[in-house]
Amino acid sequence: MARDGHVTLSDPRRRPAPGDDAEMVAARTAVLDAGHFHPLADALGEAAPADPGVVLDVGAGTGYYLAGILDARQHARGIALDASRPALRRAARAHPRIAAIACDVWHQIPLQDATVDLALNVFAPRNPEELARVLRPGGTLIVVTPASEHLAELAELHGIRVDPRKDERLREQLEPFLAFTDTRRIQWTINLTRDESRAVVRMGPAAHHITPAIEEKLDALRTTAAVHVHVLSNLSATT
Ligand SMILES: C[S@@+](CC[C@H](N)C(=O)[O-])C[C@H]1O[C@@H](n2cnc3c(N)ncnc32)[C@H](O)[C@@H]1O
Repeated sequence: MARDGHVTLSDPRRRPAPGDDAEMVAARTAVLDAGHFHPLADALGEAAPADPGVVLDVGAGTGYYLAGILDARQHARGIALDASRPALRRAARAHPRIAAIACDVWHQIPLQDATVDLALNVFAPRNPEELARVLRPGGTLIVVTPASEHLAELAELHGIRVDPRKDERLREQLEPFLAFTDTRRIQWTINLTRDESRAVVRMGPAAHHITPAIEEKLDALRTTAAVHVHVLSNLSATT
């Protein structure tokens, strides 16, 4: 186990997946700690089953959403998977019942077959075949994707927009393995300070496209958060 509390379970012959860097993780932490995504944490709590044993978060980042699920489920144990060491350092401390694991989820989820009751996948990479393999029969997967209006007022400034075919692609990826049982849209308003606007941009994919000119334009603003919460079940494995 690394000193910062995570274990690495990836193939040493493969080049490690990069994951989010320390600056992105610090930005994400600031935005989540300010409570701006609390409505999504609440929605996940409502969509999740009441008493799962093992809860896996694939691309868990700082462990914010996983910790929220565990807080409300006394008997559940959590596993946070991520490629980013700075994120895992935080995830390992986000809740006493979280085990943090470094791995490349595109390659493999380092768990045995049918061992997970609930899997979360929030704005993160997903490997459908591996998710279906580790979910037990009747297990639940919750996937969160951004709707096309998500943070649109910020996107106006930096020009990186959500792929309008995102949910269509999600269905194509997951339907061969798991059954969609519910999809709901959650929308709320976020009031950002100037620093927070910059942090929201730095914590996501737009971070790699920020120029000083774009950074200059980012100011305090009111923006729309709009996401889809998809619930899927591992029905096929029960037959
Ligand atoms: C947009 S962040 C979302 C984090 C978290 N779910 C949240 O919403 O706060 C995506 C996460 O996926 C991780 N990631 C990216 N590629 C990965 C890979 N190949 N294997 C595991 N994690 C990966 C990143 O390090 C990052 O923490």
